[in-house]
Amino acid sequence: MRSFMGRDILSLKDFERNEFFRLFEICDRLAPIARDRRNTDLLAGKTLVTAFYQPSTRTRLAHEAGMIRLGGQVTGFADAKMTRAGDFYQESIKDTVKMLEFYGDVIVMRHFQQGAPHEAAKWASVPIINGGDGWGEHPTQILTDLYTVLTEKGRIDGLRWLAVGDMRMRTMHSLAHGLTQFDCPITFVSPPDMSLTDEFKEEIKGYSLDYKEAEHVEEAIADADVILVEPVVQPDYTKSRDERGEDVGMTPANYKITRELLETKAKSDAILLHSLPRMDEIPPDVDITRWSRYWQEAFNGVVMRMGILASILGAME
Ligand code: CP
Repeated sequence: MRSFMGRDILSLKDFERNEFFRLFEICDRLAPIARDRRNTDLLAGKTLVTAFYQPSTRTRLAHEAGMIRLGGQVTGFADAKMTRAGDFYQESIKDTVKMLEFYGDVIVMRHFQQGAPHEAAKWASVPIINGGDGWGEHPTQILTDLYTVLTEKGRIDGLRWLAVGDMRMRTMHSLAHGLTQFDCPITFVSPPDMSLTDEFKEEIKGYSLDYKEAEHVEEAIADADVILVEPVVQPDYTKSRDERGEDVGMTPANYKITRELLETKAKSDAILLHSLPRMDEIPPDVDITRWSRYWQEAFNGVVMRMGILASILGAME
């Protein structure tokens, strides 16, 4: 198995099956620290740099919280507009990371341009973690989701997935790549103008993903062991910031998971994931149901980032 030490985490296309399990095992060992709200000194003397060119609550703060739990330090920016990349100079990724690499030992980057973290990795002498790049990928979120499935269901292989939302989303791309390493058939349900692109379908053809597409969640929910939902009412991910306008659409019933739908159609032991933030695709009355696992997913988001940071900085080799 390849070592995680010094490695960039850019895409789940890069991940081999045994590497998923190795990372999950490391997360199992670190989870008690987060659960007990303790800090350790595993990464004492190491610094994480957060370079966020797009808004984030979870991804940035879960990386920061994970680093702090492991005894490391954090520096960085959450508003690129206050850096030289976001003003008159529009400083390039290359010039920016040639600075950031001296400010810490690992960089987590979110960017509105697909491929920006890959460009950063070309120039940086420290590992780069992709915290979401445009419509590209969001590998650490789907690692979190797969780990949540493992902890909640005891296995990943043999489970049927239903993914609902905008299939152009970076999470959906990472999900499709990730599931190629498991025995997990998946049904994608999305509005026609948000379906898997022909280009992406061509790309995953080579990876034997067992998938089909459906028009309405009601067609697919009864078979699903894992239901993963993302918004269909959402911002433009190619922009650094997309403010909410006057007219915000409502999620059509085809892409909505309601309490009634779960109670009448879903398997009683299915689990419901959402990386959040949400619009109205999962109403709040679903939160306190036996299907909901998004708060566990949020906790696991910290554990997974601890696992990634400890692995790539060589503390858990
Ligand atoms: N799930 C997720 O990526 O959330 P943030 O945009 O808040 O980081």
